[in-house]
Amino acid sequence: EKGGYDHFMLKEMNEQPEALKAAITGRIKNGKSILSEINNLKEFITEKLRKIFVVACGTSYHAGLTFKYFMNRYSKIGVDIEVASEFRYMNPHVDENTLVLAISQSGETIDTLEGIRIAKEKGAKVITISNVFGSTIPRESHGAIYMNTGPEIGVAATKTYTAQIAILYALGAKIIELTQGSNDEIRDILKGIEEMPEVYKKVLKLNERIKELAREYVKFQHMMYIGRGFGYPTALEGALKLKEISYIHAAGYQAGELKHGPIALLDEQFPVFAIIPKDSLYEKMKSNLMESKARNANIIAITTENNNEISQLTDEYICVPQVHEALYPLAMAPVIQLFAYNVAILRKLDPDKPRNLAKSVTVE
Ligand code: M6R
Repeated sequence: EKGGYDHFMLKEMNEQPEALKAAITGRIKNGKSILSEINNLKEFITEKLRKIFVVACGTSYHAGLTFKYFMNRYSKIGVDIEVASEFRYMNPHVDENTLVLAISQSGETIDTLEGIRIAKEKGAKVITISNVFGSTIPRESHGAIYMNTGPEIGVAATKTYTAQIAILYALGAKIIELTQGSNDEIRDILKGIEEMPEVYKKVLKLNERIKELAREYVKFQHMMYIGRGFGYPTALEGALKLKEISYIHAAGYQAGELKHGPIALLDEQFPVFAIIPKDSLYEKMKSNLMESKARNANIIAITTENNNEISQLTDEYICVPQVHEALYPLAMAPVIQLFAYNVAILRKLDPDKPRNLAKSVTVE
């Protein structure tokens, strides 16, 4: 059932070209969102929608944060986001003009479930993105979008994370089209998602190189992931993957926050993992790398192919193909996943069953 792979996690990471294709089939075509699951909410979206509130945990939260960056850039409707365990106890500002978007791979996470119950009581409409057909959260929602990636067995969310982002962008594009009309840039982004399975085939081939990096960095006790803009949720997700399966202390920060505290941690024992695509914040990220280098931190970077100066800024780097700025969270995801996987293997840990964690968190 592991299809010849040593672990489910490795199998599931390698399934990402097909899983992503399955997730967008019937939802994105020729750069257009044809998502039909929200047809019953069209009137609500065009007439009433004023705000979107995303509720999720863990990796699903990071997909939601990526969506927030996407919508803040392209949509006139503001997006708020909170982890579900906070949302449910915070008297969240949602009402009958709010769309609450629950993201849950399992569809059973108790905090997310309680979150949507509160949102419904306050009159909000709820759409859930889930991978498990008929699970509780989508059943209790006004609309459900199933990821169609096939079951994910490894505790670490991998193929469902990338499928979530692709579906969230399709949903966002639909909302933008309904509320402000169509837009060429969004069309390019959606076309880029349709090309992503081919990009994944290339990115997955980087595994041998990623293994080498893992061998060099497995000795460290800590790792600081940094990014800006669309790169920030990727930094958080990179840190989560590493800590949950390799038990190395890792944290993700907005690179601009370094000088407000975290940079004090950096030295030759505390390396940095930088998410630095060639995007509109590239120059800003470059300064952050220089600041880190000045503290003698070792630096690994993921950047865009044909970045000629990256070798001077970093100790090690990995390049992914050039994509639209909004799509680096998709293009770079397999790299952070494979890095965490390889570190866990070198530490002789079972990445499918990390200690203290369950695939589906149904108790508070
Ligand atoms: O099933 P859900 O998407 O609601 O699960 C949320 C988190 O528990 C989950 O993403 C967790 O963080 C993963 N183990 C991360 O790899």
